[in-house]
Order: sequence, then C-alpha cells, then structure tokens
Amino acid sequence: MKIFTEPVKLQKWAESRRLAGKKIALVPTMGYLHEGHLSLIAAAKKKGADEIVVSIFVNPIQFGPNEDYARYPRDEKADLAKCRQAGATAVFFPTPDNMYAADHSVYINEMELGNSLCGARRPGHFRGVCTVVAKLFNLAKPHFAVFGQKDYQQETIIRRMVRDLNFDVKIVVAPIVREPSGLARSSRNTYLSDAERAQALALSAALAEARAEVKRAGEVDWKTCRARIVRKLQANKLKVDYVEAVDADTLKPVTKLVAKKTTVLLAVYCGATRLIDNAVM
Ligand code: PAF
Repeated sequence: MKIFTEPVKLQKWAESRRLAGKKIALVPTMGYLHEGHLSLIAAAKKKGADEIVVSIFVNPIQFGPNEDYARYPRDEKADLAKCRQAGATAVFFPTPDNMYAADHSVYINEMELGNSLCGARRPGHFRGVCTVVAKLFNLAKPHFAVFGQKDYQQETIIRRMVRDLNFDVKIVVAPIVREPSGLARSSRNTYLSDAERAQALALSAALAEARAEVKRAGEVDWKTCRARIVRKLQANKLKVDYVEAVDADTLKPVTKLVAKKTTVLLAVYCGATRLIDNAVM
C-alpha cells in the first residue's frame, strides 16, 4: 500500500496508473476509520477498482469556528492498518499546509441544495466540503468516488457539483452502516458517554418507525409524523436541531412521506455531540 503526503506525488502516481489502464477509486474520509468507512472501501473493490485511494484529511475549511476541528478524533496508525487490511492500495495523508496555500483563495459554492438542513446550521460547511472534494478529484484522478449515505445532503451536493462542473467522476453511494443497536456509525460516536449512547438510539428507532408507517399506510402526513418523531427524540433527552422530510432528489421539503421518494433527515444534540441520521422512506 502506497502512502502519500505530498499532493503532487499522489497526482503523478494517479496519472501513471491511469496511463497503465487502471481503474482508480477514491474513498474520501476524515480518518478515525470505522465499519462505515470500511464498507466504502469494500464497495470500491466490488465495483472493480484496480487502485483504491483512501484520503484521510480532517479538512479545516469545512469546520465552523465553534465546531470540533481541534478535538476531532485522529488515529493515523490504526487508520493505516485498517486501510491495508481492507484492501486500499494507496492512502493520502496530507497536512493542512500542503493542501492549502497560505493565500488559498478559490472555493466552490453550491448555491441551492446547501441552503437547508446541515448547510443552514453550519455556514461554510459545504463550501469547505466541495472545495476539498474537488481538490481530491484533481489529485487522485479517480474514475469513481464512494460516499456514504449517512451524509445524505453532502452526497446530493457532490453529485450536483459533479454534474454542474462536468467532473469526469462517477459518484457511488454506499448505504449507512449501523451498530447492532441501530446507531449509525460515526467517528463522532466516540464522544458519547454510555448514557448518551443509549439516548442516541432514538434517532434510528424514530426513522425505523416512520419507515414502517410508510410501508403500512403507503402515504403518511408529515406534520403528524414529525410531531411523533420530535416527541420521541425529546423523551430521550435529545435536543432537536432539525427534523425534516424532503424530496429524495431535490431536497425540497415535502408534506407527505411517500415510499422511496422522500427522505427523513434528523440532526440532534446528544449532550454536546451533534449527531445526524437519515432514511429514505
Ligand atoms: O464525509 C466526510 O468525511 C468529509 O466531509 C469528506 C467528504 C471527506 C470531505 O472532507
């Protein structure tokens, strides 16, 4: 497994692999790898990639001033071992200084899908995500890149960026990986105490109940369903950031839940930790 820290070295290597006719997959991550990330590597393998590049970079420009950039969990040694074990062929481990020139001044701003949900609560977040992902595309030169459904809005925005800016990269989306309890895997779960972990189960449970209701009834009034979800979250001491139902493709709010066409997205504070989860109904 190759390890790159210098952007230009990764870029040169990627170009040579392309010239050799190899199919390159990119799995962008912020490290502290868990089963969810490993499932993205597995998806890349399954899709027939010859080279699987995992980028591990806690991207400073996608964190707000009061967010957890400094304390975001990091474990380079364990991450490298997991990448090797999972079948990555290259890891890209840049430092902020070699990703961003001191006078870096070009950013990518998606102007529509990012105005709601997490984008409305985390100003500049998706600008940071789009910018770093575009850079990673230019460096790793992937034929396809794998993202997790856990970050539903992110994945939708990246697909829009690829379409609108004509990136020659196919976007593959892998399903959410959950712990046996139902809790969606996230590097941020490491912040949770045992009591908070138990409270956090209400997220996936509320989504599962909504889904079951849609399956049973075909169509479900969102206002009533939302009130039930909010009650459940609050009963578990979770502070609601948002509870929204949107069209699965456009992210526009809907008034009815319809199977496969609508997505319910939740963001809560569990103690000091912000958790997100979602399900296509
Ligand atoms: O989903 C993430 O971990 C990050 O937002 C990403 C896509 C790696 C960009 O920094």
